[in-house]
Amino acid sequence: MKYDYSEIVPYFLNWYDYNARILPWRDNPKPYYVWVSEIMLQQTRVEAVKGYFERFIETLPDIKSLAEVDEEKLLKLWEGLGYYSRVRNLQKAAKVIMKDYNGELPSDYNELLKLPGIGVYTAGAIASIAFQKPVPAVDGNVLRVMKRIAASYDDITKESIKKELWQDLYQIMPSDRPGDFNQSIMDIGATVCLPNGKPLCDQCPVMHLCKAFHQDIVMELPVKPPKKGRKKEEKTILIFEYQDQFAIRKRPAKGLLAGLWEIPSVEGKLTLKKIKEQLEEWQFQIERIEPMGEAKHIFSHVEWHMLGYHILLKDDNPEYTKNKDYVWANRCQINQIYTLPNAFLAYSKLWKNF
Ligand code: ADE
Repeated sequence: MKYDYSEIVPYFLNWYDYNARILPWRDNPKPYYVWVSEIMLQQTRVEAVKGYFERFIETLPDIKSLAEVDEEKLLKLWEGLGYYSRVRNLQKAAKVIMKDYNGELPSDYNELLKLPGIGVYTAGAIASIAFQKPVPAVDGNVLRVMKRIAASYDDITKESIKKELWQDLYQIMPSDRPGDFNQSIMDIGATVCLPNGKPLCDQCPVMHLCKAFHQDIVMELPVKPPKKGRKKEEKTILIFEYQDQFAIRKRPAKGLLAGLWEIPSVEGKLTLKKIKEQLEEWQFQIERIEPMGEAKHIFSHVEWHMLGYHILLKDDNPEYTKNKDYVWANRCQINQIYTLPNAFLAYSKLWKNF
């Protein structure tokens, strides 16, 4: 039998009145602020987003400034947040809004869906929080909370299950406080109905209505079949330094980390002996080599298993780095201008916070 969610609404709203998290985009839910925050929150935890959000809004206070900003500066504002196509789509959408929507984010759910980077979840979040439209915003957290309440063993990775929950919640959206209702589910998901570890059921406003709690199966839900394994790639990261300058290069315009800057690397994990041979073949004049150890970075579909060498050179312009894609930059320039993804953090610490 289908669970009727209508009873939970007043309990969630009342809980939200006393327990809503204080978040920078909630003080003033201007559509632009809600939009930027929701894009940042798509793949990133609230705690990590806060600082980025404030700096982003300070630098680009409105849609016009976002549409017009130089791409390198835009990427730098996003450095470390990951999933950089999000910020590229944000700017694409800002340009469309300037051209086709008179510079104002549309309030209609279906119009929002037409914009680059705005899918069903984000359109629901913006329409409800910024424009008080009674539409749900169903993400993994909302699915977890709702499937527990209903004691449902549905596979939440299935599109059909998401759509069904969207419809169920659409029927019960409180028309006076749709944004608060959606955000109450998000906050309960983040602070009470926890994803990892034991949920705090004694703090839950709908414990008495939660079927999983009564059946003692909270920890079994939601059902989410494991993802297929990620591809593993091995790399040797080569940090070339000459007179306080480092060699970096631009990644290809398509694919993983498209168009961002990176530390040069070669395939495979090369021993110190092999690295010395390779550098000799490339005719590098080496002052010394300092091994920087191993590091791992996990993307959604790939894992990088890295080994790094800090290579101090006697010559600033060996054949290998004459290629036009390479740039020699000092610590300040790298920190202020070039966007290097977090994947390189274990090695870019050579110039971070300098
Ligand atoms: N996660 C995604 N959007 C959110 C929001 N508006 N509030 C809290 N958590 C969120």
